[in-house]
Amino acid sequence: MLDFLGDLKRTHMCGAVRPSDSGQKAVLMGWVNRRRDLGSIIFIDLRDRSGVTQVVFNREQNAVLHDKAEQLRNEYVIAVIGQVKKRDADTFNPNIATGEVELVAEELRILNVSKQLPFLPSDTVLPNEEMRLKYRYIDLRRDAMQFNIETRHKVSMAVRDYLASQGFYEIETPFMTRSTPEGARDYLVPSRVQPGSFYALPQSPQLFKQILMISGFDRYFQIVRCFRDEDLRADRQPEFTQIDLEMTYPQQESVWAVVEGFLTAAFGAMGHKIKTPFPRMDYDEAIRQFGIDKPDLRLPAFTDVRDCFTAEDLQELAIHPDLPVIAIRTPKVGELSRKERDDIKPMFVAKGGARVFEDFKRISNKFPAAAAKIAEKAGMAENDLIVLVVGSAQIAASSEHAHRKVTPQELAIYASAGLLRVALAQKYAERHGLFVKTGDLEKDFRFVWVTNFPMYEWDESERQWMAAHHPFTSPHEEDMPKLENGAQTVKDPKSALSEVRARAYDVVLNGTELGSGSIRIHRQDIQSKIFQSLGMTDEEARTRFGFFLEALEYGTPPHGGIALGLDRIVMILAGADSLREVIPFPKTARAVDLMVDAPTPVSEAQLKDLGIQIKKPVG
Ligand code: AMO
Repeated sequence: MLDFLGDLKRTHMCGAVRPSDSGQKAVLMGWVNRRRDLGSIIFIDLRDRSGVTQVVFNREQNAVLHDKAEQLRNEYVIAVIGQVKKRDADTFNPNIATGEVELVAEELRILNVSKQLPFLPSDTVLPNEEMRLKYRYIDLRRDAMQFNIETRHKVSMAVRDYLASQGFYEIETPFMTRSTPEGARDYLVPSRVQPGSFYALPQSPQLFKQILMISGFDRYFQIVRCFRDEDLRADRQPEFTQIDLEMTYPQQESVWAVVEGFLTAAFGAMGHKIKTPFPRMDYDEAIRQFGIDKPDLRLPAFTDVRDCFTAEDLQELAIHPDLPVIAIRTPKVGELSRKERDDIKPMFVAKGGARVFEDFKRISNKFPAAAAKIAEKAGMAENDLIVLVVGSAQIAASSEHAHRKVTPQELAIYASAGLLRVALAQKYAERHGLFVKTGDLEKDFRFVWVTNFPMYEWDESERQWMAAHHPFTSPHEEDMPKLENGAQTVKDPKSALSEVRARAYDVVLNGTELGSGSIRIHRQDIQSKIFQSLGMTDEEARTRFGFFLEALEYGTPPHGGIALGLDRIVMILAGADSLREVIPFPKTARAVDLMVDAPTPVSEAQLKDLGIQIKKPVG
């Protein structure tokens, strides 16, 4: 028989009872986290969001009450009226905030029961993730998930407060809209009143925020859901949240200062002090030093050790003499066994004609002079691991993307080395203590601004240049002349388009891209030219973005902004290794919500209403 709550009111949260409350009456409500039945005494750990308090039911003091407490099982919901008592010193529990007190029960109301659970919030061993996602409401009761969601809340609030204090207005933009080009597929919503027409869910509020600048709001922000149908990974979800902002008349530095300000507030809300301004690094530099545009600055940069070898050495080792020879140093790995050395090669993902020399020892034996120079140049200390990534001698020179500072052949070597650098650091994490788990590194926050991205990226499958960020990003003013005849050169891999730099920037933290933004194009003539340079005809541009091109013609001020992934920030702050740990109701890698079981087929009647016919089930 269940009890009613009646007019009973909670006096304390379960985690808030303290020795100073001793002798007082308290009413606690919560879940039975754990129950220990010692015969004449039953201990219940009563849990709510704030923590647990131990509740005691003593047969000698109240046999009827004790009998009732015997019915309690895991996750029953109860209210207990009792007296707070300081525990005997030898029974203190130093691990919890309420560890010096207990509640001696005087009345128990069983408000609800629970079926046998598939797993318990108090379990230390987690069930598989499918089970956790199917029973997400139970999973979310776990301490770790409560902490992650609380972190999310605190970060959002800190960001909101900061941006409001800097004169940003929070303005909502529509979810039912048309396609925004952020590089992923759209989620579509069919229209009933216009059969055959579809809304697209926004991949980002990009054009709306630019229009808000045209509308005179000066500074806009929104903590906003975005939708992208793309391949999912640990740091990608089909619906995710951006901290999105836009401002008028900014220099790049003005946007960066705002981001540094709200990140300081957000990390501060979780007790971390971060150093600003963040260091800045050119895209080309990031590629050359780290092989990636989101460098993890906790690890040593590359060293190009080509000049440590003689021409004969290079020839003998079949190393391309005109391409970089990258030394990757991973600190404090220690002596590797034969097997461990053999394990490095399979970790290497060769791009282009890149090759790996995983066994520095062998090089040292055969080429002692070169090895000594390399060790010195790379700053090798005892117990450090050195691995070389080189261009194989057979790579043919190519004049494609001839204007790039980093050629495609070089890029292949840098990129292969970049991936290996991170993989090695992760593999030997425990030994060198640099890179253990994200959670253990929470105090080493190494932010960096990556700037001066190329405006265009060569798409090998389409054999044409594409916008590297999005097509609303402004090129550097001095690179504008290189856009001439864009439409003609878009399919030419030797085109001067490869040289155009964008006023785009990314903010990166410990190897994760947190956010991307740019100074935008505010002139219709330049915007049209960019569309042209992407191979879009005037007609195509008008069909897709006519409303925007028109808006640009009515007095558009210079503007720019950025969007950061809220989920990624929280993931790092919570020390989690997947976005699914910090999104209350996430989707699986197949974009399925296992709890509500979505997506699902819909009824014939609904389809008919929408004028949609399913040809064959997509499976
Ligand atoms: P971009 O597409 O780079 O830029 O996205 C900005 C940031 O959003 C986060 N993000 C994601 N997080 C989780 N799951 C995803 N699938 C996902 N995709 C992106 C990342 C990323 O850095 N409109 C532009 C911004 C601008 O120019 O102002 C944009 O959306 O943290």
